[in-house]
Amino acid sequence: MQIVVPATTSNLGAGFDAFGLALTLYNRFTVEESDAFAVEIYGEGADRLPTDVNNLFLRAYIRACQELGVDDRPIRVVQENEIPVGRGLGSSATAILGGILAAVGLNDLKLSEEEILELALLFEGHPDNLVPALVGGFTVSALVGERRVVFERLDFPPELRVVLLVPEFEVLTEEARRVLPSMVSLKDAVFNLQRAALMVAALVNRDFEALRHAAEDRLHQPFRSKLVPGFEVFKEEAYRLGADAAFISGSGSTLAVFTRKNADEIGRRGVEIMKRLGFAARYKVLEADAEGARWAK
Ligand code: HSE
Repeated sequence: MQIVVPATTSNLGAGFDAFGLALTLYNRFTVEESDAFAVEIYGEGADRLPTDVNNLFLRAYIRACQELGVDDRPIRVVQENEIPVGRGLGSSATAILGGILAAVGLNDLKLSEEEILELALLFEGHPDNLVPALVGGFTVSALVGERRVVFERLDFPPELRVVLLVPEFEVLTEEARRVLPSMVSLKDAVFNLQRAALMVAALVNRDFEALRHAAEDRLHQPFRSKLVPGFEVFKEEAYRLGADAAFISGSGSTLAVFTRKNADEIGRRGVEIMKRLGFAARYKVLEADAEGARWAK
């Protein structure tokens, strides 16, 4: 059995811990029952992701089996990873959902999306990568209590390409959350509220000119920009080249751009900007994934 789970970008500027978008970049997990637990990893993170029972896919599989009341029979997993690790692209979410879907698929269980997410939230406290990775498209998620997530999914405008500028350095989500203030002013909360609502309406109405305002935020990006040098310069350059929106992907270190034109040029300029600052980087031009996680034959 093969399970395919897309990368995701999250926050999208003002939608901190709420917005997410699935992307056409994937981690693939080939799973079979075996005599003992075993993991092989190829591609991104192959040099350092654990292959023992600390592996996140295996942990999610074992925990899901326990929660679902089925035997956690040993499995062998081959992970083919396209998604850079520790760069704000939801690679952990793919392993968590992959492990849960393996438990569901191998035991012929039927779980709703909400039930799958409830299990996934045992591993990751914020739903903004998990939800689009599971259902595809652009998603708005709200936590209700600790473990229930209510979400809405929208198709993402096909006109928009997503350019990712992926630096070589990583940013740990815990660290990127530590730099955030615990209190914000009403003025800043309103600033974000206006822009988050604007993002949803602009995507629905295909009002691409509004997106750059919708991607502005006062809750996280101003504090995190010091963890991702080059963000402000890259944003300015992307807009000069005609981009529609530029923001920090999740908690970084990847920078993301929505654009209808000059996608490669924006990516190339980003790599140059990072190089000038002393960092290697690469870029990818992607689209939105509409399907989300799936079992493949
Ligand atoms: N929304 C989270 C954050 C990252 O910005 O810290 C992904 O869950």
